[in-house]
Amino acid sequence: MKRLLTAAGIALSLSLPLSLLVSRANAQGDGMRSVWDGVFTKEQAERGSAGYQQNCASCHGTSLTGGESAPPLTGGEFSSNWFGLTAGDLFERIRTTMPADRPGRINREQNAQILAYILSMNQFPAGNVDLPTQTDFLKQIRLEAERPKK
Ligand code: HEC
Repeated sequence: MKRLLTAAGIALSLSLPLSLLVSRANAQGDGMRSVWDGVFTKEQAERGSAGYQQNCASCHGTSLTGGESAPPLTGGEFSSNWFGLTAGDLFERIRTTMPADRPGRINREQNAQILAYILSMNQFPAGNVDLPTQTDFLKQIRLEAERPKK
């Protein structure tokens, strides 16, 4: 009995780091990236800033802090709604339901610019490549609060 327990104990203590390793390998192996990896360019976000002011600011506020009836697109409430999901989920939410008064009016390219702007306003770093416009690629970018440890 004692030996059995020890074996179980060893198996348990081994399986935990092992499963951590496996999940990390998956996260890297299947092409998943993080919003901390520099997934949009500064120029793209600047173009998105103009698009945002034109199409979104009237409800969500000129600095994304929300308005009378529209929620903020930065800060704690926004993070708790979206962190843990992907850029693709947020992109589709915006693309199909926003602007709330005329959903679906904005094309993919401009939506990607606006999303880049929203990410930059949430303090994520710019990089060397534009945020993609295809939902499948955007779904490979995790929205997360903490910079992943490499
Ligand atoms: C006419 C007002 C209006 C405009 C314009 C508008 N929104 Fe919204 N937005 C809302 C309202 C109201 C909600 C919350 C209710 C809902 O989901 O429809 C919302 C919700 C959202 C959400 C979800 C927020 C969360 O925390 O889950 C996102 C993201 C968003 N809007 C982005 C945008 C973007 C980007 C634009 C510009 C392309 C835009 N909105 C334009 C009114 C608006």
